Amino acid sequence: MILTVLGAAAGGGVPQWNCACRNCSLARAGDLPRMTQSSVAVSLDGTGWVVLNASPDIRAQLAAPRFAPQGLRGSPVKGVVVTNADVDHIAGLLSLREGTGFDLWASAETHAVLAASPVFGVLSEVVLRRDMALDEGFNPIPGLTVTPFAVPGKVALFLEAEQGAYHRMGGQTVGLEITGGGKRVLYIPGCASLPDWLLDRIEGADVLFFDGTVFHDDEMIREGVGAKTGARMGHVAIGGAGGTLERLSGRRVGRKILIHINNTNPILRPDSPERAAVTAAGWDIALDGTEIAA
Ligand code: MLT
Ligand code: MN
Ligand code: ZN
Repeated sequence: MILTVLGAAAGGGVPQWNCACRNCSLARAGDLPRMTQSSVAVSLDGTGWVVLNASPDIRAQLAAPRFAPQGLRGSPVKGVVVTNADVDHIAGLLSLREGTGFDLWASAETHAVLAASPVFGVLSEVVLRRDMALDEGFNPIPGLTVTPFAVPGKVALFLEAEQGAYHRMGGQTVGLEITGGGKRVLYIPGCASLPDWLLDRIEGADVLFFDGTVFHDDEMIREGVGAKTGARMGHVAIGGAGGTLERLSGRRVGRKILIHINNTNPILRPDSPERAAVTAAGWDIALDGTEIAA
């Protein structure tokens, strides 16, 4: 299995257009890598690809030669799988409106959000909206099985006023288990907590991509850029009690990679103590272009 990180950042990217926090300023100056928004492409042999989440940066992400059309029009991207209805995971669908068919896989909850927004009607009839049922595997490309499962999360930011911002379990936030070529990969870019059952599900994976939004729960407040905690946004912190490093310590996982990294996150700075902590705990940090051969 080939996994290519198209975008390693959380919503906003690095640098974020309106932000001069430490990381955004460093990235703007060329002193930290720039990062586009949350997406991974998966293939078995490099001929057909599945894109996990359609970020607002997808047009540039898919400009890489490996995603070139086959013939005058077409694409090796055969499917797009969406893990929630957050803007950073669905807005890119609008850039895939040019009349080439693919399968759009999402939960019933996420399909309902798309169906309720007339703008997504711009996707032509050749884009097949396919339901993915929780805990049922499907084959977005031959030989690759994707099984979505509910993880702790919340509805998208733009639905909070209507539906509430409390954490819940269901199809509104899913993780993906991807199997193929004898390997098992987990992609969980948004997750509000790590209960025991989820640790058990992760155990033994060859590769884990996990929510790296914030290191400190109060990081946006510390940086002076916002009032929300990670918990409030539906993202478990990497550090601290009950955080990702602590919860996953001692669990057997082949490669552990943090993805969907917010621009406030100190792990992005190579000289930070937080980077040292994640490295010491055996975690890697995704960058745009990171490629894993599982
Ligand atoms: C998130 O990951 O919490 C969302 O992408 C936030 C947002 O929609 O801005
Ligand atoms: Mn996000
Ligand atoms: Zn910033």
